[in-house]
Amino acid sequence: MSFPFHRPRRLRSHETIRRMVRETRLSVDDLIYPLFICPGENVYEPIRSMPGVARLSVDRGVEECQEVAALGIPAVILFGIPASKDDAGTGAYVVDGIVQQAVRAIKANVPGLVVITDVCLCEYTDHGHCGVVHEGDVQNDPTLDLLAKTALSHVRAGADMVAPSDMMDGRIGAIRRTLDEDGKSHIPIMAYSAKYASGFYGPFREAADSTPQFGDRRSYQMDPPNTDEALREVKLDLEEGADIVMVKPALAYLDIICRVKSAFDVPVAAYNVSGEYAMIKAAGQLGWLDESRVMVESLIAIKRAGADMILTYFAKDMAKIL
Ligand code: PBG
Repeated sequence: MSFPFHRPRRLRSHETIRRMVRETRLSVDDLIYPLFICPGENVYEPIRSMPGVARLSVDRGVEECQEVAALGIPAVILFGIPASKDDAGTGAYVVDGIVQQAVRAIKANVPGLVVITDVCLCEYTDHGHCGVVHEGDVQNDPTLDLLAKTALSHVRAGADMVAPSDMMDGRIGAIRRTLDEDGKSHIPIMAYSAKYASGFYGPFREAADSTPQFGDRRSYQMDPPNTDEALREVKLDLEEGADIVMVKPALAYLDIICRVKSAFDVPVAAYNVSGEYAMIKAAGQLGWLDESRVMVESLIAIKRAGADMILTYFAKDMAKIL
């Protein structure tokens, strides 16, 4: 049967009917808000290329978390900017590191909020790579111990979940074993499984001061043209003990989100990254796009592709609309 009996426009004729047949819905429960924590007190240092986002000292971070929780957003993910960096990324796993301090303060003051920590070395190494460097090469296996130490120190500080973003081989297994041996077998791992070597991380690297001082991340992050490889990465991470798998970035990789979600019956997260945020904010500020409308459309697209949760700098803006 076709036209004139079938008229798809009937179900689009007014907003209430459109609402009834809507297939994808965004909920505040889907959102995770990233925070950049820096040393000091009462620091609010705006990030030039990410309007509305700032580096916050621990005290201001706690206030931000109170606002986030009041909006109904279930979780934050923390990134740390340490006071000093070295070649071993020591600041990532010291007991009193910046993220460890922030986790303690947030859990003490906003206990209901889920605190996820990003586990990586790039913000803490003086060369800006995500692992230990020897003669210009990022060393896989020696990095695993440091990542596991980092994850454990976050969990000991009170983190509810850890999210390794380094893309070293075997890191999920290394972290899982270390947590389990310390009696932390109840702590879930959100793995940045299909993380691509993307130009869309530009503003983040300004925010986290984590631009590699030589070379790039192509020897560990994925090559953008690949899809099958993303499925292999996800499979490996699940075998090693990942509880949630992530695709990153989101908007240029909707096909990957879709394939991962159809291939595996596990929760899938998508990271709507800094560059995706910056593009919409910039065009909105120039009056070239309706920022709010394009934000909602983009987040819905990520959900429609198959993401169960979205890490996004828009989380507060979106929660206000919902
Ligand atoms: C750290 C890390 C990065 C992002 C999240 N964790 C940067 C990178 O890999 O260079 C990017 C997030 C964003 O762009 O919003 N490895």
